Amino acid sequence: MKNSLLFLCVFVCAPLMAVCQEAFKITHGPYLQALGETGVNIVYTTNKKAVAWVELAPADGSHFYAQERQKIFASEHGNKTENTVHNVRIEGLKPATKYRYRIYAQEVLSHESYIVKYGNIAASAAYRAELPTFTTSDPKATSTQFAIVNDIHQQNDVLKKLLGQVDWSANKLVFFNGDMQNNSRTESQIFSSYMDTAISIFASQIPMYYARGNHESRGEFANEFPRYFPTANGRLYYLLRSGPVCFVVLDTGEDKPDSDIEYSGTADYDAYRTQQAAWLKEALQRPEYTTAPYKVVVAHIPPFGGWHGEMEVAQKFVPILNTAGAQIMLSGHLHRNVKRAPEANAWQFPVLVNSNTSIIRAKADENQLQIEVYDLEGKKIDAVTIQPSK
Ligand SMILES: [Fe+2]
Repeated sequence: MKNSLLFLCVFVCAPLMAVCQEAFKITHGPYLQALGETGVNIVYTTNKKAVAWVELAPADGSHFYAQERQKIFASEHGNKTENTVHNVRIEGLKPATKYRYRIYAQEVLSHESYIVKYGNIAASAAYRAELPTFTTSDPKATSTQFAIVNDIHQQNDVLKKLLGQVDWSANKLVFFNGDMQNNSRTESQIFSSYMDTAISIFASQIPMYYARGNHESRGEFANEFPRYFPTANGRLYYLLRSGPVCFVVLDTGEDKPDSDIEYSGTADYDAYRTQQAAWLKEALQRPEYTTAPYKVVVAHIPPFGGWHGEMEVAQKFVPILNTAGAQIMLSGHLHRNVKRAPEANAWQFPVLVNSNTSIIRAKADENQLQIEVYDLEGKKIDAVTIQPSK
């Protein structure tokens, strides 16, 4: 009996007390999601349940403390969210405008009926520190620059080396084209595997967009993915316009049949891809796509290889993309560099597969979209040039 009590104190009570006594703090972030012409999501986490808000100021040279700044709260359906993952959606911004922002969270100690007890407030530094900024998209922009990495599989060193090649003064956006992690088991896995690295290099100031891979789709934390990577339309597939480029971001799902033993009965991707194809057919008729000089598909699994997921991409998405004049598909998944030309009775656009140790860096202007692939040492290993569509 004595031994059990001792065990309870040492191995259960002590760690619990340590967690309880830990000071309230912001643990990860902030990072930008779903940046558009008039809105953005700012995401960050705290170690305890909290309400959260962002203070916003124009980047007009005034001191952040010059006046009280606009507060935008993390809320859903009119209620401020009480959570450890904070997603502040800001809307009504001016296009092509640079803003500074400061993040806040206040611990919620208890919430019983009408009575809420609040604890300490944590915030990013603003007195001496330079606040992060973001710039909303410019609908009139005739050029853009973007980078894509994929299949990093939690290799922070590889990610650092690849992102170290990006010219952050000119690069407008970054895509994570799937399989950044090996599976999805905890929140800390997301941050320790790649997001802390991304935040330290760019993600608090340059937006990052996800095309989910098959490995993010696996594990007991997989259903939490959209809380960390919100999109403007609430789905994991969406259109995104940056200057002359319309990106068609697809969620290609799992690679094996849904009934495969590896998924333990969790997968329902055939139906999901069918629904997504219906959305795709409608989305590619919208002006943001039809008027874009460049039409670029970002999709983790390519439409070839003979696995079930690859065949689904080929059968459900490619015919719609062909009809709508898609100009290139940028994929990953294979862990090697592959370039396939358009093929009769298949994809009518080139498919460029980026490996797990290379980065796509691309520039678009009025004359061309130049897509280049660089290895870990920064050596150019492939390139594709796309002419503006008519
Ligand atoms: Fe994959």
